[in-house]
Amino acid sequence: MKRVKKAIIPAAGLGTRFLPATKVMPKEMLPIVDKPTIQYIIEEAIESGIEDIIIVTGKGKRAIEDHFDAAFELEQNLLEKEKFSLLEEVQKSTNLVDIHYIRQKEAKGLGHAVWCARKFIGDEPFAVLLGDDIVDNNEPCLKQLMNIYNETSSSVVGVQEVADHQTHRYGIVDPYSTEGRTSRVNQFVEKPAPGTAPSNLAIMGRYIFTPEIFDFLGQHQIGAGGEIQLTDAIQMLNEKQSVYAYNFEGKRYDVGEKMGFVQTTIEYALKKPELKDELLEYLEELIVKEKQVR
Ligand code: UTP
Repeated sequence: MKRVKKAIIPAAGLGTRFLPATKVMPKEMLPIVDKPTIQYIIEEAIESGIEDIIIVTGKGKRAIEDHFDAAFELEQNLLEKEKFSLLEEVQKSTNLVDIHYIRQKEAKGLGHAVWCARKFIGDEPFAVLLGDDIVDNNEPCLKQLMNIYNETSSSVVGVQEVADHQTHRYGIVDPYSTEGRTSRVNQFVEKPAPGTAPSNLAIMGRYIFTPEIFDFLGQHQIGAGGEIQLTDAIQMLNEKQSVYAYNFEGKRYDVGEKMGFVQTTIEYALKKPELKDELLEYLEELIVKEKQVR
């Protein structure tokens, strides 16, 4: 069995939910307190054992390449934050992790963005990580998926439960058998109409694929929202070879939409000892003021 060593990070979307901030600034570079979102994702990939990363970029995304120009910046950051154990991990893999870039000329959808990286992947299993979801857990989310891949040699998508009123925003799985946190899946449905979702298990931006997924992405089938959807290719792959859903452990932060972004920023600021007390005091003051106004 081939090991998962490569990861694709699609970052060529238009980021319309964050306009006008994303007019010139890539959504993936929006900071959570003091670190661009995409850096959290890259750290998760490295901690999970990924050795090569390809970022799919588009027009106006030069800031991403500039940010990762040298691994020095990442190491310096960890050093300043006194995250010595993480730094050690990163330094161990500094020579192993290479970041490459490819451009998606037109934002035709997530499925198309992944397909753009096919030559870099070749005939190997690989990971995909989206910057819309940050997952906080001791064992990185991607590592958990890799464990399932190592057991099954099959593609795995990371899922978590969402509320009924949110299912129409996600790719949703229809599981037919579940053992522990792992499910076999009847069907993967992209953004089901409200009230029609087969379950509450939503795909959360972490995937491991066998290279056969490219056979289906190469069909360039147009799906929900007029875009080439990754979920549609996953469903086609699932009809040929099992694709598992894994209900991963960890707190997932939805940084791809405004409310989630604000919540994530507050929670990550509260994790910082130098900010925590002052921020809590400030939030308490705000709440008191708001209550008086009401
Ligand atoms: P999203 O739909 O969340 O990103 O895609 P978006 O299109 O940039 O955001 P909105 O909806 O307009 O606000 C999920 C991920 O897939 C990438 C995005 O960059 C994001 O990381 N993506 C999406 C691409 O790389 N190419 C595409 O054509 C579409």
